[in-house]
Amino acid sequence: MPEPANDALTFWNAFAEAYNASPGRRTVSAVDALIGDLRGRLSGAKVLDLACGAGRGSAKLAPEVGPEGVVVGVDLSDAMLEAARAERQHDQVLFRQGSAEAVPADDASFDHAFCNLGLMLFPDAPSALRELRRVVQPEGSLRVGVWGRPENSSMMTTAAEAARRAGVELMTPPRSNFYLGTSDALAGAAEGTGWTLKDTSFCVVRFPYSDAEAAAADLGMTVDDPKSRLKDALPPGSWPAFVTEALGVLAERLEAGDGALELEILVGVFGAP
Ligand SMILES: C[S@@+](CC[C@H](N)C(=O)[O-])C[C@H]1O[C@@H](n2cnc3c(N)ncnc32)[C@H](O)[C@@H]1O
Repeated sequence: MPEPANDALTFWNAFAEAYNASPGRRTVSAVDALIGDLRGRLSGAKVLDLACGAGRGSAKLAPEVGPEGVVVGVDLSDAMLEAARAERQHDQVLFRQGSAEAVPADDASFDHAFCNLGLMLFPDAPSALRELRRVVQPEGSLRVGVWGRPENSSMMTTAAEAARRAGVELMTPPRSNFYLGTSDALAGAAEGTGWTLKDTSFCVVRFPYSDAEAAAADLGMTVDDPKSRLKDALPPGSWPAFVTEALGVLAERLEAGDGALELEILVGVFGAP
């Protein structure tokens, strides 16, 4: 069984505070789309929220399962789980540290599983899907949200476009986070895992900003940002040119998006074959 990369743990522990303060406030809205046709039908259910982050999706699931149900949020990052425990509002929500590669749960112990914005990050999506199949009872479903199409995701493509315009190379991970963003890709990842892709839909998460400067400050794209992670992904000396281009890209994209950057999310519903 593959191990989660240690660098994923290091990354998410370092990024947790910034993620939860900004993008994580918006991404949780996609959990409504994941619940979908299960809304009103989860009372008393035991559900898993894998890659739960600060547990905001788990908090959306809590009223659905009600006081007789249980929501178990599982995440790799102890910094995320610390935030989740600090924000926890519902007695029926529990948090456990664990990974997609080895979910800390017995076989068939959940009625349904949810995973918002996790699957495309895991090192081996089919292996994670098999593990989710193990812990969900045979008639249960799995609902995932993954990054959709880059052309509809101005939030996640601004840095690459700014680097292109500045004529500099942005170091990117070997595999794009968009790689599961089509029905075919999701269905392909599920082959041989015991899940069949039953339904897909797209939803859009909006990230509103008053102007390009506000967006740049929030996204760590200002010249004097001491904590910007992006700076390390660019060649030395290219930061000022990158930042100038980023402001232009952000202004164009905010105008095109009616004052917001966007992330398209592909929602996949898996069930028994
Ligand atoms: C983009 S955040 C999503 C958080 C939350 N579900 C949301 O919708 O905002 C991704 C989360 O996946 C977790 N994660 C990354 N790799 C993981 C793995 N292999 N197993 C479990 N969790 C993982 C990270 O710690 C982080 O909390």
